[in-house]
Amino acid sequence: QLGYFTYDPGFMATGSCESGITFIDGDEGILLHRGYKIAELAEQSDFLEVCYLLLNGELPNAGQKQEFDQGITYHTMVHEQMQFFLRGFRRDAHPMAVMTGMVGGMSAFYHDSLDIHDPHQRMVSAHRLIAKMPTLAAMAYKYSIGQPVVYPRNEMSYSENFLHMMFGVPCEDWKSNPVITKAMDRILILHADHEQNASTSTVRLAGSSGANPFACIAAGIASLWGPAHGGANEAVLSMLQQIGHKDRIPEFVKRAKDKNDSFRLMGFGHRVYKNYDPRATVMQKTCHEVLSQLGVKDPLLDLAMELERIALEDPYFVERKLYPNVDFYSGIILRAMGFPTSMFTVLFAVARTVGWISQWKEMIEDPSQKIGRPRQLYTGETERPFVPLAKRG
Ligand code: SDX
Repeated sequence: QLGYFTYDPGFMATGSCESGITFIDGDEGILLHRGYKIAELAEQSDFLEVCYLLLNGELPNAGQKQEFDQGITYHTMVHEQMQFFLRGFRRDAHPMAVMTGMVGGMSAFYHDSLDIHDPHQRMVSAHRLIAKMPTLAAMAYKYSIGQPVVYPRNEMSYSENFLHMMFGVPCEDWKSNPVITKAMDRILILHADHEQNASTSTVRLAGSSGANPFACIAAGIASLWGPAHGGANEAVLSMLQQIGHKDRIPEFVKRAKDKNDSFRLMGFGHRVYKNYDPRATVMQKTCHEVLSQLGVKDPLLDLAMELERIALEDPYFVERKLYPNVDFYSGIILRAMGFPTSMFTVLFAVARTVGWISQWKEMIEDPSQKIGRPRQLYTGETERPFVPLAKRG
């Protein structure tokens, strides 16, 4: 008699939960954050305002916005000793390895003074994570290229500060580019939250045991790193470089359809969207804006557009409703903005931190919440007696 598949009425057994933060209709290509359309937020809001919305459930008024923005701005520095942690990594360590380690390490610097059952202290941990992720990300990048760390500036906006820490150098004044700053902010908004994706479910499961939020977010970063998830934006660029020329697209489309070939069209398909990913629509528009305003002619964008055209006419992809997802264009924009491919998923993690911490907060605040305990359908051996070594074949 095999085991049986049971449901824990709580959270993770069926891989599902109740949440009021993000709504997705995959068939209709709809994405709402607290009821607001992603396209309207991307066009009319800014990232910190969307952070406030995800955390608190409402858009802030002017006073709330100023207080929240200041609360984030004045926590952008990290403990100076984190630099010693950073220097323990090899210079060529993947920045996602560094982020997983450094964010987990924040448990040692910031957690012991925080009681996650106190609402105020919960928000403090949320603010610290949102505030410090760009600083840690830029530190990881600067360390990998041997440049000195650039400290955050309190007079800059969140996105401007991130770009300044990434690309500024102490020996000259950094000039911000409003086109790139706006694009950065929009990219962060588009990646902020996405319901119960793999990394968010990881954060929720880790948090359901009462683990501290910094350790939970580190678990989310680890899950996001996978090429089937957040690592896809980096994989899209590698794929486009592998294809190299539009004449080779049919060869790779054929491979993507071959079940015996592990090649997949990275940036296509989605576990939930069986229609166009609404974020990809905004991302494609932003991609064209950034490249034209920067005067960048990127052959990889031309290749991406041709690949999209061919794939969307191919019955295999049409029948399976495999459309470009958010990752298909983000890598091309980030490349135009000067980010190395190794930093693409790090940027995704910086943006998704607010989604992870908002979902963690929602779970911790639910009095009926229990520890997640997925069950299984047992497919192993039935009970059998032990066989001593001397009697084994
Ligand atoms: C993100 O969950 C989220 O919300 C994630 C995310 C977020 O914001 O958190 O949206 C971010 O992770 C976006 C997805 C990024 N990943 C990629 O772009 C990697 C490439 N995509 C595939 O690995 C795939 O599409 C997945 C992993 C995204 C979804 O895989 P599924 O669930 O197996 O896809 P499916 O069930 O819809 O597949 C249906 C069919 C299968 O073939 P058949 O068995 O029907 O013959 O489509 C095939 C799949 O083999 N298929 C692909 C394909 N994706 C699915 N074939 C070729 N290329 C692809 N990209």
